[in-house]
Amino acid sequence: MIEQIFRQLARPCDKFEHYFPLYERHLGEFVGKAPRILEIGVQFGGSAEMWHRFFGAGTQVHGVDIERQCGDTEYLSLTVGDQGSDAFWRSRFGDCEPCFDIIVDDGSHDNPHQIATLVNTYRLLKDGGIYWCEDTHTSYYAGVRVRDGGYGNPRSFIEYAKQVVDVLHVRHTAHAIGVGPTPDGPHVPAHLVALYGHVRGVHFYDSVVVIEKGTPLPFRRLMHGGAHAG
Ligand SMILES: C[S@@+](CC[C@H](N)C(=O)[O-])C[C@H]1O[C@@H](n2cnc3c(N)ncnc32)[C@H](O)[C@@H]1O
Repeated sequence: MIEQIFRQLARPCDKFEHYFPLYERHLGEFVGKAPRILEIGVQFGGSAEMWHRFFGAGTQVHGVDIERQCGDTEYLSLTVGDQGSDAFWRSRFGDCEPCFDIIVDDGSHDNPHQIATLVNTYRLLKDGGIYWCEDTHTSYYAGVRVRDGGYGNPRSFIEYAKQVVDVLHVRHTAHAIGVGPTPDGPHVPAHLVALYGHVRGVHFYDSVVVIEKGTPLPFRRLMHGGAHAG
């Protein structure tokens, strides 16, 4: 359905085909719920139009772009700013509570910018919200178009996002969970736990990373039947 909307947009928009079923899988729950979206990289407003038509009446897109290339509408309000600048995020959103249901990073696709955006905006996402970073293939671009890419580059966005997967498993790096002889350490760094402690799931696809924010799922073992020994 979102692909049909895309094909009928009034404004230009440019997406990889396999993103459409992924949008439906991860963002479909917000259809009809008037979500508040933070979109980094608005350009001509094509994707903002797509979100509005997909999610329906009441959808609000708060756009951030380094350059104004479209006007505001009843569903889109644009702030001009640099997603790579901590000072920008602090000055524009520093005093904001978590208020977004969805954050989409479709900005510069430059690795340090993608990381700075996740670091600065994850706290703005409500519990139950979805963080979506697209075109993450630039993590694998070595020396072209973006900084800090190339297979295995520890400064790429994909390598950074793998650390959010570590936070998902923080309970298993200490004795705390009480399910047998859990090794004590090395621990996931405290600053990562402070940033991403509310994480429920991380999904990696070709060129897309999706982070589900929320209270971590309970880790409770259930045993059925009598054949278990020890
Ligand atoms: C791929 S386009 C966005 C396309 C739009 N989301 C769509 O699908 O219709 C990328 C946008 O990111 C913006 N951009 C580039 N560098 C940026 C930065 N440092 N901070 C914020 N936006 C940036 C560009 O101006 C451009 O409009």
